Amino acid sequence: MTESLKEKILELKNKKNAIILAHYYQTPEVQEIADFIGDSYQLSKIAKENSADIIVFCGVKFMAESAKVLSPNKTVLLPAEKAGCPMADMATADALADLKNKHKDAKVVCYINSSVEVKALSDVCCTSSNAVKIVKNIASDNIIFLPDKNLGSYVQEQVPEKNIILWNGFCKVHNMIVREDIIEAKKKSENLKVLVHPECWKPVRDMADFIGSTGAMINYVTEDKDNAEYLIVTETGIMHKMKEKNPNKKFHTLDNMVCVNMKMTKLEDVYKSLLEMKNEIIIEESLRKKALASLENMLILGR
Ligand code: 13P
Ligand code: SF4
Repeated sequence: MTESLKEKILELKNKKNAIILAHYYQTPEVQEIADFIGDSYQLSKIAKENSADIIVFCGVKFMAESAKVLSPNKTVLLPAEKAGCPMADMATADALADLKNKHKDAKVVCYINSSVEVKALSDVCCTSSNAVKIVKNIASDNIIFLPDKNLGSYVQEQVPEKNIILWNGFCKVHNMIVREDIIEAKKKSENLKVLVHPECWKPVRDMADFIGSTGAMINYVTEDKDNAEYLIVTETGIMHKMKEKNPNKKFHTLDNMVCVNMKMTKLEDVYKSLLEMKNEIIIEESLRKKALASLENMLILGR
């Protein structure tokens, strides 16, 4: 059943000149039918640069919205209609407008995990792979950073010369991990390297051998020559690509790190949305143009 469904999707995709993009947190079967798998930054670049007519985005809403903002002439489909990001929902445009009024000299850097309305009010967008670079490069010493307080505080540590005003948002999946989880995992191996996503809070980040985006974690392990075992502190979907690229290395994960939103995309949804052109992302043009400026600034400042 799964194999024939996969074949049907691939056939339909070729017929309609569509591409399938999938985030590393998607299920293995979804990653297996994707043309590109990546982290938020890599996927937004591919969305902008490819020549397909249709993008089927297997991820969450802010990712599909970003693809539409960057590629308005393409049809962007989000197969799992309800796949949102609870952290993105922690920042509203109204609350951001109020904060901007209180800090008129500050520039706004928004994490890509935010709504299109929040992006429209921001000076520049960032992902976990380029946030430090962007905050360093932006022409302001005062920065409002939203919605992730953990990524924001990590950036503040790396760029102490700037003043970062943090928002009180967080990702439940990463924020629930505590120092004791890492201490416990370290008991399993003497030669354990700990890789942590910057959405984790400081006590956990302080125990890391490496901090980076999902894409950066995969690159780190793939290039690492030490005979180590690895504890991967992020959503467990990353392990599909991590193991595929590193079949001879040994990994440990924290079992409860599962993002239910990322797991909502099923092969049936991908097929149905492409067949019926269902769940298309539509963004009003003036809003799109405002949000585009922040995403284009990311592509310039994050280079
Ligand atoms: P990456 O950009 O590192 O893939 O992160 C996306 C995300 O949602 C992390 O929770
Ligand atoms: Fe959002 Fe966290 Fe899921 Fe990433 S893992 S999409 S930040 S809820």
